[in-house]
Amino acid sequence: MMLRRGRRSGLTMVIAQHSTALGPAVGGIRLRRYAGWRDGVEDALRLSEAMTYKIAAAGLPFGGGKSVIVADKTITPEARQAVLTDLGEFIDSLGGTYLAGPDVGTGPREMAIVRRRTPHVFCLPEDQGGTGSPSEPTAIGVLAAIAAGARAVFGDGSVTGRTVVLSGLGSVGGHLARELAAAGARVLVSDVDEEKRALASELGLRWISPEDVMGTTADILVPAAVGGVLGPDTVVNAPLVVGAANNQLTTDAVAEQLARRGVVWVPDFVANAGGAIYTLSREIEGLGQDSALARVRAIGSTVDELLTAAAARGTTPLHEAMTLARARLETGSRAIPSRALA
Ligand code: PHE
Repeated sequence: MMLRRGRRSGLTMVIAQHSTALGPAVGGIRLRRYAGWRDGVEDALRLSEAMTYKIAAAGLPFGGGKSVIVADKTITPEARQAVLTDLGEFIDSLGGTYLAGPDVGTGPREMAIVRRRTPHVFCLPEDQGGTGSPSEPTAIGVLAAIAAGARAVFGDGSVTGRTVVLSGLGSVGGHLARELAAAGARVLVSDVDEEKRALASELGLRWISPEDVMGTTADILVPAAVGGVLGPDTVVNAPLVVGAANNQLTTDAVAEQLARRGVVWVPDFVANAGGAIYTLSREIEGLGQDSALARVRAIGSTVDELLTAAAARGTTPLHEAMTLARARLETGSRAIPSRALA
């Protein structure tokens, strides 16, 4: 883990490289407010670890990393530009052992600013030669995971007529809301940002307050905001939980508690891998859009296998997903794709 104060911005930046066992550490740039810089460091460490398992479970030859920009309340557009420039230099100083993409608080526009200081960044706007935002591919992967979860829990992968509580209407959550509604689900949405109410009414979806997310009875709960939403005392009123947020559980033990209470929780790092899978497939391996999206949709078969194995062996889906990721980490040869280092 490396910590640096931006020379231009004065803001604290953290880069965590959890693993480079399979290749350079890949992970997004998270730009948000934290209570203090220590919280930013902790988040970067946890998120980079999740990236390692995400990328290993997806069978890609990369490691896991993450960067965090600890914003203060009053981040002006100038400060944003300054800190992204600072971060670009920081990333470049690592010589290609960390490759950045977007995460909460950043997107293609921010990647273009970082790109002025380093080539080690993905997801530039399409008119600048990148593959653009990974939000839609992430949502496509989550939808495949939801369908697989629904097959296991309800015996039918369709969401038509199901009540879905969706927490978080950000760039991935917004896509999920649209697609779930279009597929005929009854979607109840929530966001800490009151301004997202406009999107909810545009889509004709019922708004619930963030405090009511867990209390509301639903068929499927979809966490699509920040992590730490499922703790040992969280009462979940849905038999299936599957979403886009990273690090949904406060500790791994929560996976067992949920399973004991009959709640099927699809591991977040499997369900939300679509953005990373799509981006790496296209920008490193040079696959076309259709082939890359086919890989993203294969998340559905992975979830089918994990849930079947967990049910057959009396384990949790998290245990099965970790076993898969660890096996790949142990057997995977160290392969650094040359284009990643170019
Ligand atoms: N934010 C993405 C995630 O959590 C990270 C990412 C996106 C990395 C796109 C690379 C490319 O999975």
